[in-house]
Amino acid sequence: MRLILLGPPGAGKGTQAQRLVHKYNIVQLSTGEMLRAAVAAETPIGLQAKDIMASGALVPDEVVVSIISDRLDQPDMKNGFVLDGFPRTVPQAAALDDLLRKKHIKLDAVVELRVNESALLSRVETRVAEMRARGEEVRIDDTPEVLSKRLASYRSMTEPLIHYYSERRKLLTVDGMMTIEHVTREINRLLSAIGAVEPKAAAPA
Ligand code: AP5
Repeated sequence: MRLILLGPPGAGKGTQAQRLVHKYNIVQLSTGEMLRAAVAAETPIGLQAKDIMASGALVPDEVVVSIISDRLDQPDMKNGFVLDGFPRTVPQAAALDDLLRKKHIKLDAVVELRVNESALLSRVETRVAEMRARGEEVRIDDTPEVLSKRLASYRSMTEPLIHYYSERRKLLTVDGMMTIEHVTREINRLLSAIGAVEPKAAAPA
């Protein structure tokens, strides 16, 4: 199974990606996580990305495309993958199309999680509070100021992908305002409806 999860910051992409990974034994490819690891390790990419991420802007397309291109060549991709946070611009989507075409890989679907803005803000606030309570380091881009810039980046750079994938008949839209469990069920139901998984495999565990 090859999927893309699309949605604004805090929509639940990471949460749903993890659930898909467990259910279908596929790999989660989160460019946000990969970039945070690169920042923490102070690699050349991390040093380039650090200030951009802290400001809520997007890292240059060529940087994330090369990360994903390298990752898609790894042997653990054979069962499939869920892309979480990539592509995020039309040029990234076009580059992904090229990569997949060259590797003879077919994309099954793009799942868009729709969540309204006030819910996004409160979800990220909750995430910050929970991380603090667990004594974990809070993401530096999870402040209200940076979050509003991340949302603006999403609206201007990423939202056009809804049209891009809808035109290519890949888009499945899910109401992300439901509970985590209900969102998972709806994603599985839609994947089964398009034949990406057997109805039995998509049923709740
Ligand atoms: P990234 O790490 O991808 O962050 P994001 O897209 O802003 O998304 P989040 O991780 O904040 O949210 P999410 O949708 O995964 O929600 P989650 O499941 O955590 O990117 C960070 C930065 O990296 C970017 O700003 C950019 O600079 C750079 N970057 C990354 N990819 C790039 C790319 N391709 N190109 C260029 N730059 C790139 O859920 C959030 C919270 O809500 C959690 O606490 C969760 O428990 C809760 N929650 C989830 N679902 C529900 C629900 N249904 N009901 C109630 N609560 C819920």
